[in-house]
Amino acid sequence: MASSTPDWSAFRRDFPILNQQVHGHPLVYFDNAATSQKPRQVIDALVKYYEHDNANVHRGIHELSNRATNAYEGARKRAAQFINAASADEIVFTRGTTEAINLVATAWGNKFVKESDVILLTEMEHHSNIVPWQLLAERTGAKLRYLPITEDEHLLDLPKLDELLTPEVKIFSMVHISNALGVVNPVAELCARARKNGTVTLVDAAQSAGHCPLDVQEIGCDFLAVSGHKMCAPTGIGFLHGRAEILDQTPPYHGGGEMIATVDYFKSTWNKIPHKFEAGTPDISGPIGLHVAMDYLDAIGRDKLFQHDQELSQYAYDRLAEVSGTRLFGPKAGRAGLVSFLLDDVHAHDVVTIADRFGVALRGGHHCTQPLMKKLGVPSTARASFYFYNTTDEVDRLIEVVHEIKKFFGN
Ligand code: ALA
Repeated sequence: MASSTPDWSAFRRDFPILNQQVHGHPLVYFDNAATSQKPRQVIDALVKYYEHDNANVHRGIHELSNRATNAYEGARKRAAQFINAASADEIVFTRGTTEAINLVATAWGNKFVKESDVILLTEMEHHSNIVPWQLLAERTGAKLRYLPITEDEHLLDLPKLDELLTPEVKIFSMVHISNALGVVNPVAELCARARKNGTVTLVDAAQSAGHCPLDVQEIGCDFLAVSGHKMCAPTGIGFLHGRAEILDQTPPYHGGGEMIATVDYFKSTWNKIPHKFEAGTPDISGPIGLHVAMDYLDAIGRDKLFQHDQELSQYAYDRLAEVSGTRLFGPKAGRAGLVSFLLDDVHAHDVVTIADRFGVALRGGHHCTQPLMKKLGVPSTARASFYFYNTTDEVDRLIEVVHEIKKFFGN
């Protein structure tokens, strides 16, 4: 291994939660696609904020309010830098990816999407990148269209894009890394093709922002949605990136304090971006925690982190493939840090329940991708999802547990 390779297991010392026994076994936390654990540095930043600096933002002129405002706006600048946005004004704090997509589908969609338009999605989308568009389609009469996945490795069927990306396609909203398959989509290529067609693009970066380098200018998207809690930050904070020009043209999402320039009894005018989209007292500690999380990840290096994710995931995939009776989903190689699988005819919930008895935390279910599960012909899968603090020893433990589960069911 190259000398610059981090000692991955050393990072575990920053995550007190990982150092515990579950049902008498050392915890193996493989549910990172649902939410990551939080390092001590992030937890300490939250405590410090509430013990020293807590105040409302943008309102007061007293010392604590200035500190809180500076920290909040500092986090916005850091988020812009994290994804190479052209300006901090292009970052709107939201509760996460779901709220970011709802903001676009509602505020931008209500103004710009018409009955004759088409909304293009892919067959591997999370519910959060399907349902807001269905609601928009119901409101406007626009049609939904899906880019299919291939039968074998469940990749996007890219040649089909030519026939689907017609002039009526107003927006193409796509997931970067699939939470159910581990597929990494070529979002820069997809956005370039959409741009040539005059189609607006949104990238769901929930599973990618904390795992690999992201550059919105290189990707060339109009919108990008991020969840903090999957990248070491607290739950309830994320952000929407929107190109300034398009955010300027988009009406407000929620009304209330902060998002206005002037208010009259019968008419109001709006604040500048991004404040136009941040009505009311925002989550303040969330961005502060997110700032520390972004610093933490970049100190490791997201390129190295992604390589580790991919190596671990490939190792898990290959080892699971050796076990008779496993069915694996997604690509055989080049996958992101998660593996979805089924064991013989054992229900995914049973796999996860028994794994938990051995201290291994997996997720089982439809992973908020019910249409995709239907397409795959299964009700659910078991999923192991990794992060930089996971090790090959832990994957070996998963394989031991998989053999125990097979034994339990007489397979
Ligand atoms: N979308 C999250 C997951 O895949 C919750 O588990």
